[in-house]
Amino acid sequence: MPLLEVDRVTGGYGDSEILRRLSMVVDAHEIVAIIGPNGAGKSTLMKTVFGLLHPREGRITFDGHDISSFAAHQIVKLGMCYVPQVANVFTTLTVEENLEMGAFALADGNLDTCKQRVYDMFPKLKQRRRQAAGKMSGGERQMVAMGSALMLDPKLLLLDEPTAALSPKLVDEIFERIARINETGIAIMMVEQNARQSLRMAHRGYVLANGENRQQGTGRELLEDPNVGRLYLGG
Ligand SMILES: Nc1ncnc2c1ncn2[C@@H]1O[C@H](COP(=O)(O)OP(=O)(O)OP(=O)(O)O)[C@@H](O)[C@H]1O
Ligand SMILES: [Mg+2]
Repeated sequence: MPLLEVDRVTGGYGDSEILRRLSMVVDAHEIVAIIGPNGAGKSTLMKTVFGLLHPREGRITFDGHDISSFAAHQIVKLGMCYVPQVANVFTTLTVEENLEMGAFALADGNLDTCKQRVYDMFPKLKQRRRQAAGKMSGGERQMVAMGSALMLDPKLLLLDEPTAALSPKLVDEIFERIARINETGIAIMMVEQNARQSLRMAHRGYVLANGENRQQGTGRELLEDPNVGRLYLGG
């Protein structure tokens, strides 16, 4: 059974239909990349998986639970965390306070242990732990956002454009972090504009356009598909 299964989901905002009979799966420990043009519905898919929107038709299951009608706070408890595309840190809080906010749903875990685990993954955050997140660079902020999501040691981490608006060097650094997070056993579903780079590191990928599945396959299959290259990877 896959860790996450989106089964023929139709939905969107209010009456607007953005996702159309969309299906996808993420297996445990896998990196899955979602690519597609602006407005394809990638962020809408993320929000629907995380319970911020609900499918009008179809079903979403996570780790054996039907979460189609679950709210985000219930989904977090099952082991899924989400880093949104925008506004993903509390800018007036320090790095350490952001991490603590990320652990709000922690039932009985040890906060210090969780923080240490995150600081081990992002040593830079430990050095900067007293600094306001709003005074950090884009790349550092992204690390704070990912660190906060990782406080709960999720089974699945949803990342919406983690490398948006970063310099090529920082893009490489974030991708490397994502690979390391995955090596600890956490499955990753990420939406990426840096499509080639994300497909290179992903085990599998999906191409979305107009709220529908257009292509799916291993990262390599999608990279080598001439139609995907021409239509979605800029030739
Ligand atoms: N809050 C909202 N209310 C109504 N419609 C929305 C809302 N957010 C997005 N949409 C619409 O849903 C469609 C899909 O948007 P979505 O943000 O999912 O695209 P995306 O694939 O993430 O695009 P991008 O690559 O630009 O981030 C767009 O037509 C958009 O206008
Ligand atoms: Mg988006």
